[in-house]
Amino acid sequence: MSDNGDHGFEPEITAFMCIYCADMAADTAGALHIQYPANVKVVKMPCTGKTDIQYILNAFEHGADGVYVVGCPIGNCHHVRGNERARVRVKAVKELLDQIGIGGQRLEMYFVSGGMGQSFANTAQEMTERIRELGPSPLRESKQRLGT
Ligand code: FES
Repeated sequence: MSDNGDHGFEPEITAFMCIYCADMAADTAGALHIQYPANVKVVKMPCTGKTDIQYILNAFEHGADGVYVVGCPIGNCHHVRGNERARVRVKAVKELLDQIGIGGQRLEMYFVSGGMGQSFANTAQEMTERIRELGPSPLRESKQRLGT
């Protein structure tokens, strides 16, 4: 956990994103010099349909305060329906996170096309602000207390 100077908390966020639309949108954001928070650790996936529930849970277990998934727009997945499968998984994990007290708000899914550099940057901004408000993940805090 790093210190942002005012609230003493700067979130660590993991983003799973596909190598097609999402990665192109990231490149577009870079080409247009659109700024977005540096809190996000990107994990590139061949398709968001490969974002297994276990990967999301592992990210939280390894210290993420928030996780999000960025894929191609519905109807434009390069693996046909991978983004739809990811959306179903994200919804299921959000419910699970609510049930176990971590909070489903810490997980989100976004859909962007390759030219949507600003929208891509907005996802990082939105998640960073949301997680700053929520504070550190309860899982990370309890692990720190236990020294694990
Ligand atoms: Fe982008 Fe499937 S290839 S979500």
